[in-house]
Formats: sequence, structure tokens, C-alpha cells
Amino acid sequence: MSAQQILKVFVTRRIPQEGMKILQKAGLCNLSVWDSDEPVPRAELLKGVAGAHGILCLLSDKIDTEVLDAAGPNLKVISTLSVGFDHLAIDEIKKRGIRVGYTPDVLTDATAELTVALLLATARRLPEGVEEVKNGGWSTWKPLWLCGYGLSGSTVGVIGLGRIGLAIARRLKPFGVKRLLYTGRQSKPQAQEVDGEYVPLDTLVSESDFVVVSCSLTPDTQGLCDKTFFSKMKKTSIFINTSRGAVVNQEDLFEALSSGQIAAAGLDVTTPEPLPTAHPLLTLKNCVVLPHIGSATYSTRGVMSELTANNLLAGLTGSEMPSELKM
Ligand code: NDP
Ligand code: DGY
Repeated sequence: MSAQQILKVFVTRRIPQEGMKILQKAGLCNLSVWDSDEPVPRAELLKGVAGAHGILCLLSDKIDTEVLDAAGPNLKVISTLSVGFDHLAIDEIKKRGIRVGYTPDVLTDATAELTVALLLATARRLPEGVEEVKNGGWSTWKPLWLCGYGLSGSTVGVIGLGRIGLAIARRLKPFGVKRLLYTGRQSKPQAQEVDGEYVPLDTLVSESDFVVVSCSLTPDTQGLCDKTFFSKMKKTSIFINTSRGAVVNQEDLFEALSSGQIAAAGLDVTTPEPLPTAHPLLTLKNCVVLPHIGSATYSTRGVMSELTANNLLAGLTGSEMPSELKM
């Protein structure tokens, strides 16, 4: 039997052509693709992975024990088109000796850029302004109409000064940010570059004018931003989350926004995704919600696709991956 007949790969979605070309050109595997822009239904996922040696998945595919069991003992590698890996049952994957590829670094700039755009749009009330122009609410220039908050002289707090958190801080500093606070599991030497002050979470939350969440989703960060958290924020402060929706308790965020406990929030990530159109957060003018587009530039998605394909091939052939998750 040839290698092509032996190695089975299930790709859970239509992915940018850059990655597909690499997989096809390698001629190493039988590719089975869920050829759609919509997520693979669970039953099709379980069927599709049966006997697979490799799975190329997205952050919307929950790869848990049931999927691993459905794949069976052939499975050598899971390559995800994302840097976040909270959708993967890491302990179980590790126990089974399966390797994981992911896409750090290549999306850092795009995600940091989107975070800055979301922060400015939220703080300066851009969606509200655009809406007022369209609906005739713009009657004349008024001294206090659509005023918001600026970065100059402000204190910014970054929760999770990792690759993306640092890239956000680098971009925000030139706006005249006075103090850059950060928190995490340990202080970071690279924080010097942005004059970052490592502080306890409570200090960050109570002293920041802008709280930016860019940590990974873990059992420790799940629900981190809750009633107590928001109650410590300044009434004039802005909350931004581009990490994962589950870091936030959305009921508590709604309460904080609607009661005036905080000024506004900008979210690129929610629970669930998509956020139902009838969700209470979408009724608020001071909440800007984007559809998880942090890394959505054509070039970034192309490079992510290439990296995901190359990680997968390396996992199949037992060679060094360009970006392997250390578990
Ligand atoms: P990194 O691993 O470089 O950074 C993750 C950061 O999370 C680290 O600084 C880590 O801090 C911090 N962290 C972990 N646990 C805690 C905790 N308990 N409290 C505070 N901070 C904590 O990852 P990236 O910067 O590359 O990506 C971060 C996340 O961004 C991804 O996991 C993903 O969920 C999200 N993301 C979202 C995108 C979007 O489209 N909106 C695009 C890309 C990523 P420490 O080092 O001190 O442990
Ligand atoms: C990730 O990579 O984790 C993002 O959420 C999407 O790019």
C-alpha cells in the first residue's frame, strides 16, 4: 500500500487555498474535506475523523474525548488554524501521545491592530456616530454630543502580556498612554520595552482607564471578568476583550454597562459565537460587538493556513513542526 492510501486526514472546513495547495502538493495523504464555509455538524465530524491519522481543525470544532475515540488509535496529529487551543482536550490529547500544531506569532500583528481599532471605536463611540449620521440624529455641532474617552494621559491595563498583549501595548503607547499596567502569572522582562508595570489584578482593574483582556482561556481565566471585577473598575473606564468570550461573565458585563458601573465595552469574542441577535448586550449603545475578526486580514489568514498545513504534514511524517504546542 502507498503512503497516500495509508495516511488519512480530515479537514473540518474549507480553508484558505494557501494551505490546501501545500497539502495537495505534498501528496502524502488522502484528504477528506468538509467543503463548506459553515462548521461541520458534530455527527459528520465524528464520522469524518474515523481512522484518521491527522485532523486539521478550527477553533469552532470541539476536539474532546468523543472525537479522539471516534478517530481511534491511528491519530498522530491535530493541527488547528488558531493560536488559541481551548477547544482541544489537551490533557487527553497528551495522554494519547498525539501532537498538536497551532499558529502563534503569524496573527499577532493583525489581532493587535484589530484590538486597537476596537478600543478606539468603543472609546470614541464610532458605531453610534455612524448610526446618527444615517438616521438623521446629527442636527448640528454640539459641545457635549457623542463625547467619549481618549488615550492621551491615560492608564491602560493589559491582562495577559503575551505575544498579542505586548503587541497591543506597543501600539497603544504612542497615543500618549501615561501608565501601562499588566498582570499575568509572572512578570515579563519584555515589558520594559513598553515601560510596563507588573501589578496585581485588583490594582490593574481599579487604576486603569482602559482594561484590555488578551490572555488565553484556561480554567483560571474562565469567568475572570465578573461582577466583582467590574465593580472595581472606574465608572469612566472602557473594557475590551479580544481573547475568548468565556473569560467574561456576560450577565455581569450587561449589568455593569447598563447601570453605568463602567462606561463602555468592546468585544471581539463572545459566548456563544455567534451571539444571538436578541442578546441583551446588543441592545446597548455602549457595547460594541465584533464577530471574532481579530486575525481577519487576507494575508494573515493565508499564512495561518500555510502554517497549519505544514504543522500537519510534520506531524504525519514525525518531523519537527514549524509551530508545535508544548504540552
Ligand atoms: P500567549 O500565550 O503569548 O499569551 C497568553 C497570555 O495569557 C500570557 O501572557 C499569559 O500570561 C496570560 N495568562 C495565562 N493565564 C493567565 C491568568 N490566569 N491571568 C492572567 N493572564 C494569564 O498567546 P497569544 O498572545 O498569542 O494569544 C492570546 C489569546 O488571544 C489566544 O489564546 C486566543 O484565545 C486569543 N486570540 C484571539 C484572536 C481573535 O481573533 N480575537 C486572535 C488570536 C488570538 P503568563 O505568561 O504570565 O502566564
Ligand atoms: C485564534 O487564532 O485563536 C483566534 O481566535 C482566531 O485567529
